[in-house]
Amino acid sequence: MANLSKRLPTNIDGNLYVDSTCIDCDTCRQLAPATFKEDGDYSTVFRQPETAQEEFSAYQALIACPVGSIGTKVKDAKVFSEARASFPLHIEDGVYYAGFNSEKSFGANSYFIRHLSGNWLVDSPRYLKQLVRFFEDQGGLRYIFLSHEDDVADAAHYAKYFGAKRIIHQADVAAMPDAERVIDGNEAVQIDPGFVCIPVPGHTAGSMALLYQNRFLFSGDHLWWDRALRQLGTPQNLVWDDAQLKRSVRKLLDYAFEWVLPGHGERVQLPLEDMKNAVRQLLHRRWNVQHSLL
Ligand code: SF4
Ligand SMILES: [Fe+2]
Repeated sequence: MANLSKRLPTNIDGNLYVDSTCIDCDTCRQLAPATFKEDGDYSTVFRQPETAQEEFSAYQALIACPVGSIGTKVKDAKVFSEARASFPLHIEDGVYYAGFNSEKSFGANSYFIRHLSGNWLVDSPRYLKQLVRFFEDQGGLRYIFLSHEDDVADAAHYAKYFGAKRIIHQADVAAMPDAERVIDGNEAVQIDPGFVCIPVPGHTAGSMALLYQNRFLFSGDHLWWDRALRQLGTPQNLVWDDAQLKRSVRKLLDYAFEWVLPGHGERVQLPLEDMKNAVRQLLHRRWNVQHSLL
């Protein structure tokens, strides 16, 4: 619960505010960019919602915020409950953003994939009745893909409830030692038709991306859309091994995908060839790799 006495002075006057418990995870800026922006080490309300849609998005941000740092002086109970009921948010073709980001994963995004051969959870949201019910209604969870050690959050609870198999890389397995499926080495592994686990060491030794249907790349903290640059981004500071990170970004040129769905940062959809070019531009910008070599 946000606390008015901790309201950040950077907030513009009005009903909605961010307090000083904000961990600057970016979730609110993704969900309601017309209302929230980054200011120093926090998010802040730079503009109060003016339309019903902006208000709804701001309430979605309030609900998804992993640490309850967003508050209202006067809560609209109807909008609040409708916004809460809107999660998980459908993205496309049975792929959902789960919402309810967890503080245990520093507010990382997690995703749900509805599929005939069994549903997937990608990283973990908070363990909540609403999500359990939703997953149950969709037929449960067969696999939980863990992109890396930072974002396991409540995966063990979901795995236990649904009897789901957790998939993690050997190098990050300390975060989920009793995972049912451990991927080793650098080779991509197909789990079910249409689902490929691609080891992408760099941010952590055991980072992996999940490629679904050669369209959706669930990228953990390996790759995201940088909204300021309007280009793909990859870690600069939190890097276990930069040379491996470079190889892992380059490796993505071997695959086709049009969506990047990250743990942290903005998601993006681009036509296949534009996405390949965006990966090439990232390699050039970050490591000065010439396009002619790619
Ligand atoms: S979602 Fe919450 S913790 Fe994350 S940046 Fe916004 S206010 Fe801060
Ligand atoms: Fe991470």
